[in-house]
Amino acid sequence: MQRLVIVSNRVPAIRDRKQPAGGLAVALRDAIRDRPTLWFGWSGQQVADCADRPLGMDTVGHVTYATIALTHKEYNGFYQGYSNAVLWPLCHYRAGLMNYNRHDQQIYINVNTLFANRLAPLLESDDMVWVHDYHLFPLGRILRGLKVKARIGFFLHIPFPPWSLMRSLPAAAALMRALRAYDVIGVQTEDDARNMNEAFAVLGIPARARVFPIGIDPDSFATCAREGQGLPQLRRLQQDLRGMPLIIGVDRMDYSKGLPERLRGYDTFLKRYPEYRGKVVYLQITPVSRGSVPEYQSLRAELDQLVGHINGTYGAFDWTPVRYLTHPLPRELLAAFFQLSSAVLVTPLRDGMNLVAKEYVAAQLADNPGVLILSRFAGAAADMDDALQVNPHDSDEIATALHKALSMSASERKVRWERLRTDVWRVTAASWARSFIAALSEVRTA
Ligand code: G6P
Repeated sequence: MQRLVIVSNRVPAIRDRKQPAGGLAVALRDAIRDRPTLWFGWSGQQVADCADRPLGMDTVGHVTYATIALTHKEYNGFYQGYSNAVLWPLCHYRAGLMNYNRHDQQIYINVNTLFANRLAPLLESDDMVWVHDYHLFPLGRILRGLKVKARIGFFLHIPFPPWSLMRSLPAAAALMRALRAYDVIGVQTEDDARNMNEAFAVLGIPARARVFPIGIDPDSFATCAREGQGLPQLRRLQQDLRGMPLIIGVDRMDYSKGLPERLRGYDTFLKRYPEYRGKVVYLQITPVSRGSVPEYQSLRAELDQLVGHINGTYGAFDWTPVRYLTHPLPRELLAAFFQLSSAVLVTPLRDGMNLVAKEYVAAQLADNPGVLILSRFAGAAADMDDALQVNPHDSDEIATALHKALSMSASERKVRWERLRTDVWRVTAASWARSFIAALSEVRTA
């Protein structure tokens, strides 16, 4: 069997290598189960200077992890700067949040070059190299410059905006040309593919993006929800609810997730439907993310303020309208909370796919499923017509959806959930990886 080489900025931490707990490692679990694999990327470590940077090598079963540290300067310019303060906002249609400068762009290229230089000697000509996400757009082109003959594919996990927006990036054309080096280019949705292919057409670049929607491992998430039933924290939450319905939200603390808009939607809900005051609990779990990027810091301040405002306005001595956490919870507990809840709010302003929507569906039980309230602008919305779809900018629409979810008949909830469930079990992490790898293996090597 040909070796698979995965390249991603983040590589599973050592403690997660035997039992992956989330992210790309879970998505790729099936694909690498019995395939010789090399996984290359950033070690997660920062060092003072670049003099002494050996590759960290660690083998678990048939997977070898090769990782490299970044200097503080590279971390700032490549990760915080260009990746997360330029490409991330732009790809989420937020050009106004870009903090572009040529210096960070150069460091982005330098780190991609560093990755390529250290990876190339490890490659063999019949490897299948699979590069992941916006941190590594130019990696394939640089590898080709180093005479790498292996097949190389690229998958973009986040949205790709229309060319009219993308071109506000000064180096957009060069970025698009670099993509030509890949044998297979994958994106999440038809919209993303249309946007990217339009950009290729405008620039006369002979490349084509194809759609490979990502999913979850629904059986293992359903198992998590079952295992979570025994946890004492679940019982405590249950007692605390005193029969009130639970609305839940789980998101990285990111401005793409539409969190202030969502809180305003909940505020409108409490205003318009006062009968729910004191009769419902909203639990928002929002682990802090990229906390040293300025935009993320101001988001944190805004959320703190909004939660305080809602709790101060509607709260009572024995009722807190919003319970808000900024640390992560174990997967089993989250899955069990999903099962306990009556509705989930998944309302990103833009999202590549959004796997919380799929996990929520996987965690439900057939006799009493909760309701998925989903933004039209999540990639997942394309195949989830049976969710209550909302425009996340419209707090009235969120309020109406909450009311509809909490008053929906059991029979309607079941019909909707059955149909959502079919899709979550049809398009999975395993089917995603299988179809991408199949496409890559069909490519003839040079
Ligand atoms: C998104 C991106 C991933 C990224 C993850 C967590 O899902 O598509 O590439 O790893 O966010 O963000 P972080 O900056 O912590 O890696």
